[in-house]
Amino acid sequence: MNSVNTAQPHTVPVKTLTDERGHLGIVEAMADAGFLFRRLYFLYGTTGEARGHHAHKALRQYMLAIHGAFTVTLKGRGQTFTFRLESPTQALIIPPGYWRELEDFTVDAVCLVAASAEYDEADYIRDYNEFLQWEQTHA
Ligand code: TYD
Repeated sequence: MNSVNTAQPHTVPVKTLTDERGHLGIVEAMADAGFLFRRLYFLYGTTGEARGHHAHKALRQYMLAIHGAFTVTLKGRGQTFTFRLESPTQALIIPPGYWRELEDFTVDAVCLVAASAEYDEADYIRDYNEFLQWEQTHA
């Protein structure tokens, strides 16, 4: 098995039980994401506009396309990662300290995010140059 640097963004499989009634997806916070969830939020009805354009200083996120598909680009530590989330059987783990952009949503896309903390505007960096400066001292 390939080892995954868990400090980097990476995808993980979502445990899925399938029988004649359909699919049952299961997420256990510690076992599957590696952190506890304190907030859920979801995006839907996206209009074609990109979202994101910010980084989080401490927040951890577990993200999946419950329905439809979208692309997540993550920048940090001199690297750029691009993930196309297009199945509820695969989730993306986003560690703290990555600038993110979400785009190319299909019209039916539903993005579910489980986050490690409640909403806190002070945890956001919304200016890319400020993010690059913050990285110099924190990442
Ligand atoms: P934001 O995180 O900036 O999302 P996006 O980059 O996709 O637009 O959130 C958009 C707005 O919603 C912003 O004003 C903050 C607010 N918000 C909350 O009040 N609570 C939350 O849990 C989230 C995710 C956003």
